[in-house]
Formats: sequence, C-alpha cells, structure tokens
Amino acid sequence: MSETSLRLIATCPEETKDVLIAELQQLGVSNIEPAYRAVHFRATEEQFYAAHLCLRTASRILRVIKEVAAQTPEMLYTQARRIPWQDYFGPERTFLVEGVPADRGEAFMRANDISQKVREGLQEHFLRIGDGKMPKVDLEEPRVIIVAFVAGGRCTLSFDTSGKSLHKRGYRQDGHPAPIKETLAAAILHLAGYDGTQTFLDPMCGSGTIAIEAAMIAMSKAPQIHRAKGQFQFEWLAFFNRDLWRTMQEHYRSEKLATPEHPVVASDIDAKYVELARANALRARVEKHMQFAVGRFQDIEAPGASGILVANLPYGERLAKAGGIDLEAFYKEIGDTLKKKFTGWRAALLVAEDSPYKVIGLKTTRRIPLKNGGIPCKLLIYDLYAGSREKKGH
Ligand SMILES: C[S@@+](CC[C@H](N)C(=O)[O-])C[C@H]1O[C@@H](n2cnc3c(N)ncnc32)[C@H](O)[C@@H]1O
Repeated sequence: MSETSLRLIATCPEETKDVLIAELQQLGVSNIEPAYRAVHFRATEEQFYAAHLCLRTASRILRVIKEVAAQTPEMLYTQARRIPWQDYFGPERTFLVEGVPADRGEAFMRANDISQKVREGLQEHFLRIGDGKMPKVDLEEPRVIIVAFVAGGRCTLSFDTSGKSLHKRGYRQDGHPAPIKETLAAAILHLAGYDGTQTFLDPMCGSGTIAIEAAMIAMSKAPQIHRAKGQFQFEWLAFFNRDLWRTMQEHYRSEKLATPEHPVVASDIDAKYVELARANALRARVEKHMQFAVGRFQDIEAPGASGILVANLPYGERLAKAGGIDLEAFYKEIGDTLKKKFTGWRAALLVAEDSPYKVIGLKTTRRIPLKNGGIPCKLLIYDLYAGSREKKGH
C-alpha cells in the first residue's frame, strides 16, 4: 500500500450521499467529510484508482491540486499563474476550465469569469516558463478538465479525474423513454438492502438498468471495469501510474464471481423493452447470468420464497398518453399483487411524489426522498413478511 495521501472529492446527488459514504468506507477510505452534493476524502494511490473503478454511486471524482485565495478575479488570475501546471500536463494537451461559483456572497464571481481567470493564468504560466508553447482550450473533448470551485473568497482547483460522468457505464443504448441513471439505480439497490445474497426481481425493468446493476453487484463486478483506454481523464495527466492502474484493474477483474449466487430476474409488460434490457445486459457482459421474461406484473409468480423486488413505477403522464390508464387502479393492483404473491419478500418501489402511491395500501418500513431526473420521488420500502399489516392510513 502506498502511503501517499491524496485529497479527493466525489460528487453525487445530495439525497444519496450517505450511500456514497458507505461505499467509500467499504474501500477503506478515511477522513471522509460530507459537503453539499459531494464527499471530501483522503486516499492512497491504490484507493484513488479503486474509487474510479468501483464506486457505483459517484457522479464524478476530482483530485484537488490546490486551494488559493480568490477574493477578486485578479487575485484568482495571479494565483492560477503561480501554479506549476507543467508538473501535471504539457502544452500539447488540450484543456477546459469549469468555473463553479458556490454562493452569491460578497466575493461572488460568475462561472464564466472564474473559468476565464484560471484559463488566462494557466496559459500565461506556460508562456512564461517555456518556449512560447501553451495548451489550447477544447470545449468539446478536452484531455484535461480543471474544476475551479469558488466559495467564501477561496478557490479550490481540482482535476476532474473521472472525465465522462461515472453514471455512463457504457452498456446502455437508446430505446426507452424513461431510463433511470445507473448511479441512481445502484443507490436504490443499496438503500433497499440488496447485496447479491438475495433473489432479485425487477418486474418493470424497462431498459434493464436496475437489474443490470443488481447483476453487477451480485457478481462483485466493478462498474467501470470495461471503460475503454483513455476514457478516464487521469490517464492524460503526468501523475498517471500506468503499472499500478493495470494492477488494480487485474485485481478487480479477479474479484469478479463467475456467476451470481442467487437469481437476478428482469421482466416487463413490453417485449421490446425486455429485448432492449437483454441487449444492454449483453453489453454489460452479465446477460447470461440473468433471467428475462415478458409479462404483466399482476400475473407474475415470485421467483422464490423470499427476495428483493425493486421497481421504478411508470409515471402518470406517460401512462395517460399511452391510452388513459387509470393510475390509481394500477397502483392498487400493484399493492394487491405484492400482498398476494410476495409474502416473505422486501419490495422497494420508486414512485413520483405526486403519484397516487398511497393506494398501494401496505405499511412502509421506510420512505426515502430521492430525485429521478429532477422529479421529486420517494423510495417506498415494504417488508412483506407473513402477517404483515396493511396500512391503516397515514
Ligand atoms: C419507469 S419505466 C422503468 C424504467 C427502468 N427503470 C429503466 O431504467 O429503463 C416503467 C416500466 O414499467 C413497464 N410497465 C408498465 N405497466 C406494467 C405492468 N402492468 N407490468 C409490468 N411492467 C409494466 C413499462 O413498460 C416501463 O418499461
């Protein structure tokens, strides 16, 4: 284990921060400090690479370069000019500075001003030290992404070391109108208590995201193990330790189980979505470890005496457009099906806050507020043990 202590930040939705903290603890990371929509932590070099490969619920990972005074735009420019950028990357690399203003306090700077001052300081620095060569800005596909976060007259400068957002696992294709983000699916599975030691069912699987994430958990498969070479931004920075990276990739490949120990089942009423889920699972290389079926949830048989059912329920507008289905009646049928066929199971249902979820009519163990694509939602958890009581109103 290397002793280097790197300052890192992992970002995530505010609602799932505790899940990310639990994931970091599992990686053996210390000095975890929660912040708004982010978690700050210290890590060894091994943990730095492990975090990029293994975190299921982080959106991006930043590696802090320096914190500098930034009471005025000029001060930020002067500070940015002093940073030895050439220690991190050369003038041949393209770059982009993302300015992030945290508050509207006294020393407020707009995002554009922040990125402009850091960019000018950085380019000026290269001009001063070298033979007139400086890195160019590329807004589309920069090799280096610098994040400048300004709060309370100070600026934290970091490299975005993940690059392409970590929810992009690379397995999902277009074809479903309402796919859930992979990182949210993983957070929901964690909140539902799923860890691969239970039978799993998503009876309204759509493009398969939740079930595919479940299969990956069941097989201890690192979610980013298939990200292509050059797709992590750290690969373009001077501190990139290629040998250690390869060792870490091999380590996590060898940790993967040959197959899940318990069934992972995905079904949907619509055959074309089941086909899409299967195709996505194939791209995630878990297809042959999952079971797929077409059918109505109301007609389904539980694939075991106990297990965890997770579903992202259809929303009102879409169902209404699809033919004016009575959402209340549908949600009531979901409750009835759970009562009749899923005794011994735990069910975790993601519902929009303004949906008629109360008619499901079962007592919840927990209700967790979440957001799905900006829509306020709730994750309703039901423990359907024998003799579980029906809800007597809220
Ligand atoms: C919100 S989407 C799920 C999206 C999914 N989580 C994903 O990431 O793609 C809800 C799904 O429920 C399915 N559905 C609607 N009514 C159903 C029923 N009665 N039984 C089974 N599936 C149903 C729809 O076809 C749709 O794919």
